Amino acid sequence: MFTLAIIKPDAVGAGKTGQILAHLEQAGFKIRAARLVRLSTVQAEAFYEVHRARPFYRPLVRFMTSGPGLALALERDNAVAHLRVVIGATDPAEAQPGTVRQLYAESKERNAIHAADSPENAAREIAFFFPERELRELAAPGAS
Ligand code: CMP
Repeated sequence: MFTLAIIKPDAVGAGKTGQILAHLEQAGFKIRAARLVRLSTVQAEAFYEVHRARPFYRPLVRFMTSGPGLALALERDNAVAHLRVVIGATDPAEAQPGTVRQLYAESKERNAIHAADSPENAAREIAFFFPERELRELAAPGAS
């Protein structure tokens, strides 16, 4: 099963990409696709469309367009739910010890990593960043 993560611009800018990738690999995730992306405002607005009515939407779009992020298609059993556990709560002050956000996030907004919150959103978000890849292709043994 697949999920979608983004190492966010705060963590990429602070040089924490490698440590976070190591953390994800140690948690059993296989990196099946990766792409360094500088989102445009239109792309970030579309990606976070479900949050459009929330007060943090505009600052979130500004932050996500402030520098490159690393989009990842990750594979593991129970990938969506497991990645949510591994990254920890949205607010690093509330994240469990040893989670990615507790270790690397600065704040609720600059929180180092995004993870899809359902299998449906994982499929939508993978297609958003890797439109040229079929989930089936990502699932093939030996796929990179
Ligand atoms: P993410 O997993 O990328 O999904 C939505 C993002 O909105 C979330 O992580 C946070 O970075 C950001 N955000 C900013 N403020 C809030 C808030 N008050 N509640 C939830 N998410 C917030």
